[in-house]
Parts: sequence; C-alpha cells; structure tokens
Amino acid sequence: MKDILIKTEGVCKDYLLGKVTLHVLKNIDLEIEKGSFTVILGQSGSGKSTLLNLISALDVPTKGRVFFDGKDISSLSPDQLADIRGKKVGFVFQQFNLLQQLTAIENVATPASFQGMPYEKRMEEAEKFLKMVGLGDRVDHRPMELSGGEQQRVAVARSLINDPEVVVADEPTGNVDSKTGGKILDIVKKLHKEQGRTIIVVTHDTNIADLAERIINIKDGEIVGNNVR
Ligand SMILES: Nc1ncnc2c1ncn2[C@@H]1O[C@H](COP(=O)(O)OP(=O)(O)OP(=O)(O)O)[C@@H](O)[C@H]1O
Ligand SMILES: [Mg+2]
Repeated sequence: MKDILIKTEGVCKDYLLGKVTLHVLKNIDLEIEKGSFTVILGQSGSGKSTLLNLISALDVPTKGRVFFDGKDISSLSPDQLADIRGKKVGFVFQQFNLLQQLTAIENVATPASFQGMPYEKRMEEAEKFLKMVGLGDRVDHRPMELSGGEQQRVAVARSLINDPEVVVADEPTGNVDSKTGGKILDIVKKLHKEQGRTIIVVTHDTNIADLAERIINIKDGEIVGNNVR
C-alpha cells in the first residue's frame, strides 16, 4: 500500500481583496507519498506558492481538507499549525530568509531551539548539517559575509535541523547562478536519494524538474497535469 504523507481533498483558497474575491486555488486533489520527490510547475500567479503554503501547514484552505501524516490540519489554529511545521516541515525559500544578526551555525541551530534541543546538541547538529552542504569552513560567517549560494546552502542545512518529514522549497535556485544552482541541486538529490526524505519543490529550473518523480502542473489555480515520470 502507498504510504501517503500529504493529501488534499477539494481544496480551494480564496483571497478577499476589498469587495473582490479571488479564487486562487480551485478544487485541488492530490496525494504526496512518503519519500517521493514532487515538483510543482506553473506560470507566475498560477497559485504554486499558495498551494505549497497549504500543504506545508503554513496556511489553511478556504474550503476542502488537507491531511498531513493522517491528521486533518484544515482547521487548526495558527499555534497548532506552527507546532506541526516546527516538528515536521523544513523550509527553503527563494530569498533564503536567514537572520542577519546570527552566524551561519546559529541560523541553522535556531529552529531546534524551539523544539527544546539543548544548546550543545543543536550546535553540534548544526555543524554536521553545515558540513553536509559543504560549509564546514563558514560556520561563523553572518549572512552578509556569505555569497548568495552559500546563504541558500545555510538555509538548506537549517531546513534539516529538526529531521523533518518533508522538505519544501519555493524556487530554491531562483536567486543563484547556474553553477551554484548545480550545487544546491546535488544537495537536494542527496536528501532524496541517500536520506530518503520527501521533497516538494516549486521551480522553473528544468534541472531540478528532471530529478522529480512526479510533476504537478498548475494553471489558474487548477491542476492541469499530475504525472509520474
Ligand atoms: N495574501 C494574498 N492576498 C491576495 N491575493 C493573493 C495573496 N497571496 C497571493 N495572492 C494572489 O494569488 C495568486 C497566486 O499567487 P501565488 O503566490 O500562489 O502564485 P505563484 O504561482 O507562486 O507565482 P510566482 O511564480 O510569481 O511566485 C496571485 O494572483 C496573487 O496575486
Ligand atoms: Mg510563488
């Protein structure tokens, strides 16, 4: 039997702008298997980030249901969602979203502090993940003292610190050059192939899409393609 990590049923997301209701996602049904690698493709404004937010417990749908690891998370409070995210989801964003005043190792360790991991242990883990992304010699650099690609690798290391069920990335190579993108790609490949993690990536980068097992195409808030490669 398939082991499903995330499932959506008839998910809709509306945004109210003044008197106008925007129907951004329409009737999204999808299943993401544990250990799978999914890429979400679609034009700007098609609803990719909105969908990613719903399946990574950042937001709740207007209608329909989202199940995460068998639990209905569609009507949880912000605190309850944050609890699930903190324990089970690792995030990588296009803009890196590192804390500027903290060093690389402190940035990576921070999400673990919210999970109660003791200081020594989380610094040890953070160093391990920084080494894994090839930044063992940059642990004490602040984001300003790192290149864009290095910052993104710090963000990838940070996404792993709480041993998440799923790593979600929104255009992880959108702000780095192609050579650096290649390095990020190698790391993502490793997370999937060697560590067996579930990966969901929104990207226009065909090199990442080539790695995916499933490609979900979204257009105007609807799934227009959902194919295993
Ligand atoms: N908080 C919000 N309030 C109102 N409208 C929103 C909000 N967030 C997104 N939208 C609208 O929803 C639509 C989908 O946005 P979304 O960010 O999901 O697109 P996207 O596919 O990720 O695009 P891109 O590739 O440019 O990142 C857009 O038209 C956007 O303007
Ligand atoms: Mg987006």
